[in-house]
Amino acid sequence: MQTIVVVGAGMMGAKIATVSSLSRNKTVLVDTDQARADAGMEEALRGIDHMVAFSLVSEENALQGKQLISSETRLDRVVPVADVIIEAVTENLGIKQELFHMISELAPPSALITSNTSGLRISDIAKFAKHPERTATTHFWFPAHLVPLVEIVMGEHTAVQTAEALHAMLTRWGKTPVTVCKDFPGQLANRILQAIIREAVHIVESGLASPEDVDTAIKAGMAVRFPVWGPLEHIDAVGLDLALSVQKEVLPYLNSESTPGKILERLCAEGNLGWKSGKGFYDWHTRSKETLSYVRDCFVPEAVKAVRKLSNEAGAVPEGGVSSES
Ligand SMILES: NC(=O)c1ccc[n+]([C@@H]2O[C@H](COP(=O)([O-])OP(=O)(O)OC[C@H]3O[C@@H](n4cnc5c(N)ncnc54)[C@H](O)[C@@H]3O)[C@@H](O)[C@H]2O)c1
Repeated sequence: MQTIVVVGAGMMGAKIATVSSLSRNKTVLVDTDQARADAGMEEALRGIDHMVAFSLVSEENALQGKQLISSETRLDRVVPVADVIIEAVTENLGIKQELFHMISELAPPSALITSNTSGLRISDIAKFAKHPERTATTHFWFPAHLVPLVEIVMGEHTAVQTAEALHAMLTRWGKTPVTVCKDFPGQLANRILQAIIREAVHIVESGLASPEDVDTAIKAGMAVRFPVWGPLEHIDAVGLDLALSVQKEVLPYLNSESTPGKILERLCAEGNLGWKSGKGFYDWHTRSKETLSYVRDCFVPEAVKAVRKLSNEAGAVPEGGVSSES
């Protein structure tokens, strides 16, 4: 059994604790005051119940996991006995740098220290850490207890052994880790997501299709096969010669700007910010965001289960598919 300390008991930290405890690790959630740490622990326990409700873990596994989570406010009580410390505090470079410095002074020399940062460079976060070679980013995707992907980003000083140890650990936790070998903003998956968003906005802006039809084209088309069929597997399957000729034909018409789309700038300037103002690409006074969230929250666990079932039944899911362990 390992001891995992999760620093920051907010939205991400709590659900990372859910995953860690279900993998039979002693898991301590740390926050700045006891009320926040306790609230995070409650959220982590709710995450376990959620996974039982969706039949992603057994009642027995859940009970065992719940007994392994605790809350704390003092790093010096828990970090000296930790095997891995996962930082998931507010996205602020100064706060994260200070924490990495403190944690690295308290941690055993063998411990690994990671950050859940979405956008900062681990090389910068770990600038004042005692052993930067034992640091990396482990970027869980929201909601962390359900989405299998975790991006391991190697900083300028991250040792290969650190990335390999984290990869092995996250695989044991039932996650699907990928290793990102260079430390740039956007990591890996967010770069691809931003490329999709840039083109989606461009299609609407250029009058090629409505927002509804752009979203429908993705949801009813490529998204249905993406859980088991990646884009590079796709072009290998159709033939790289065909892929090359399509790229030569189509790429000149795609958006390659390095600035945000004009329609996005205009909507923001008009105060149309989406759900939070009631209007964005859609009018949310006439559409139900509750229904949309409900459908997403039901779909994600069902998709995870479907891929696991395929994987268990036929070994049908290629490398990179959802892990069959939990
Ligand atoms: N929310 C997402 O969808 C998402 C997805 C992936 C990654 N992330 C990243 O995960 C990290 C956490 O995001 P979140 O959404 O959980 O934030 P959050 O605001 O929900 O939680 C952050 C928690 O950190 C605590 N905290 C702040 N300073 C601290 C300190 N010095 N010591 C201990 N605790 C401290 C806060 O009290 C709060 O409870 C950020 O780096 C964020 O960029 C967020």
